Amino acid sequence: MTKTPTKAPTKADKFSFGMWTVGWRAQDPFGDATRPALDPVESVHRLAEMGAWGITFHDNDLIPFDASEAERDRLIARFKDALTETGLQTPMLTTNLFTHPVFKDGGFTSNDRSVRRFALRKVIRNIDLAAELGAKTYVFWGGREGAEYDGAKDVSAALDRYREGIDLLASYVKDRNYDLRFALEPKPNEPRGDILLPTVGHALAFIAELEHGDMVGVNPEVGHEQMAGLNFAAGIAQALWSKKLFHIDLNGQRGIKFDQDLVFGHGDLINAFFLVDLLENGAADGGPTYDGPRHFDYKPSRTEDMTGVWDSAAANMSMYLMLKERAAAYRADPEVIEAREMAGVSTLGTPTLNPGETVADLLADTSAYEDFDATKAAERGFGFVRLHQLAMEHILGERS
Ligand code: GCO
Ligand code: MN
Ligand code: MN
Repeated sequence: MTKTPTKAPTKADKFSFGMWTVGWRAQDPFGDATRPALDPVESVHRLAEMGAWGITFHDNDLIPFDASEAERDRLIARFKDALTETGLQTPMLTTNLFTHPVFKDGGFTSNDRSVRRFALRKVIRNIDLAAELGAKTYVFWGGREGAEYDGAKDVSAALDRYREGIDLLASYVKDRNYDLRFALEPKPNEPRGDILLPTVGHALAFIAELEHGDMVGVNPEVGHEQMAGLNFAAGIAQALWSKKLFHIDLNGQRGIKFDQDLVFGHGDLINAFFLVDLLENGAADGGPTYDGPRHFDYKPSRTEDMTGVWDSAAANMSMYLMLKERAAAYRADPEVIEAREMAGVSTLGTPTLNPGETVADLLADTSAYEDFDATKAAERGFGFVRLHQLAMEHILGERS
């Protein structure tokens, strides 16, 4: 029986799932798979019944690495039939450049040039499929692009090759007139000891060096930033500020450890609350919200059977919708509005200089310096703790 989420999602919520999430058979470095293989067609039907809007996949989630042309065509055709039957979208596709042993030292940045050329061809082939299926985003997660040993990888040359690869693929998309943008997914480590483009910040800096950076943004994942001890909601705020939040991978993580891929909100709940608040309601000064897919990239825990798989898929959507409801109540609460005012959260949106004011004007303003009473200004309490407590009361359902 298909599990009905506590909160009923609709297609308008734009929830999407990686085929590899519910399809994960739960093999890990220490143990064998605990679940049977899942037919992608069944995933399409189940997810659609549960209220999801999209399914995403790596080339090899649907088509085995060594499939013949005929087999490839057959698998794509039956998958397309399932999409037509259910109305499920394929908003994002990506490439598996990490499972096959040939990618042991990476794809775009392998020290072996023939592997780099093969990786580019593999991606191009799947980009054609992405365009055919109407995907709008193509994700690049470079899990194997990295090293374990500092002497083994010339990072500067590797970044040159990474840039060469992404720019080449971007020019291919432009030549073909595909309506497709790229999203780079940062991760600090795992499976490589150190992965290139480890955080949102590194990825944004890399994008600024691209020739075709206009069509390249980021696909940050909750757990990946948190594995590096970073504040995910803050990273997303900067990606939005840079107009580079093209896609997002939602899941849960508890602290600096291996990539847990828990259900969204099952890790750092408070940060998940402020993330949903940001995505749905924008920054305090009315900054941009996010209107792309709410994509779940989690792993149903190894302890779960197939019932647990569908329960956990439903839990992701319920968590998001509950947090969305709580965030709306938080923003609308008059006491919160007043506390945000007191805390200066809303006034940070006011430019520090007046319209038309120059440096000379600032230097001439004695109230800004000569007559400024720093001791008096230092007396101000910001009331951040009270504001945070109000947020906690909303999260816990004490206020609504
Ligand atoms: C991970 C990554 C992947 C990517 C996926 C899409 O840590 O395993 O999050 O799941 O998101 O490969 O490119
Ligand atoms: Mn992950
Ligand atoms: Mn991911």
